[in-house]
Amino acid sequence: MSIFKKKRKLILAIESSCDETSVAVIEDGDSILSNIVASQILSHKRFGGVVPEVASRHHVEQITWCMEEALLEAEVKTEELSAVAVTEGPGLVGALLIGITAAKAFAWANDLPLIPVNHMAGHIYAASFVKPLVFPMMALLVSGGHTELVYMKEHGSYEIIGETRDDAAGEAYDKVGRVLGLAYPSGKELDELAHQGQDTFDFPRAMMREANFDFSFSGLKSSFINRVHNAEQKGEALDRLDLAASFQASVVEVLVSKTIRACQEYEVKQLVMAGGVAANQGLRAALSREVAEVLRDVDLIVPPLRLCGDNAAMIGAAAFVAAEKGQIADLSLNADPSLVLE
Ligand code: KG4
Ligand code: ZN
Repeated sequence: MSIFKKKRKLILAIESSCDETSVAVIEDGDSILSNIVASQILSHKRFGGVVPEVASRHHVEQITWCMEEALLEAEVKTEELSAVAVTEGPGLVGALLIGITAAKAFAWANDLPLIPVNHMAGHIYAASFVKPLVFPMMALLVSGGHTELVYMKEHGSYEIIGETRDDAAGEAYDKVGRVLGLAYPSGKELDELAHQGQDTFDFPRAMMREANFDFSFSGLKSSFINRVHNAEQKGEALDRLDLAASFQASVVEVLVSKTIRACQEYEVKQLVMAGGVAANQGLRAALSREVAEVLRDVDLIVPPLRLCGDNAAMIGAAAFVAAEKGQIADLSLNADPSLVLE
């Protein structure tokens, strides 16, 4: 039975899995009426990474304000809502719990159904704000915690056909950036440096020749760090721009070539690239070039930059599909830090 019994199909969505507190109001699953994102990056920067306890405290401080602001900006009254959606996992347990507790309290107080959403499904559904998803579809999910190729036969069906065996792509960016003295999270800055340098260091391209769709970035990371430390010991100066360009060239080549091969093998109609690293300009350019050249019949969708990072609008879009499938939780819903997408 559909949960949408009111005049408009409106969902209030909440995301708090890592270091952004975000609340959105979504109409019809594909229209963003508001998408408030309170970032905590400044608080985590001085520690060089996300400190879970600090993240939870920020979420507690921000969540109520974000919920009020999202409704205000959307010009939607609580009585008009049909459901509340929230990220169930994966993510930091303390951070997830703040969003889940707020969502449960709001759902109970206003007698609304509660829709749990997988954060990675949310990243994929960010693409549905660009155009409707068409199946079968492949998604390349690249974020700070995940690097996965996900095959989707239909809405809400996920098969992970390949994933990283060690570091996620974003994690490798952040670790390598730290060695170059860049502030956390360093993906964006490293991307900018990469565009000014040349691929001269010939870093390894891991698992390229293997038939599977798995990735590995820890060898590349170690190779980068060793090269920099060796040079420091010898008092040799390395070109930072070339280091960044060489690192990025390796990441991009591996991600693009495996993704293209996966699309060929699974004969998909659409390819979505999503997650924080999907903001990478080098990766966006290389993937669209290769798709145009090699996969002429495949439609590539990459969400706009503001929807690549963590946000609640994407959770609302995924929730809409979950709601139509009747995936409703009760008030015993708990955070699942290692929730899988299958
Ligand atoms: O999806 P996201 O916002 O959070 C997670 O769920 O992990 O992804 C954050 C990651 C960070 O590792 C950050 O360095 C990376 O995305 N990132 C980038 C770029 N912008 C953000 N990596 C490479 N190039 C970028 N332009
Ligand atoms: Zn994310």
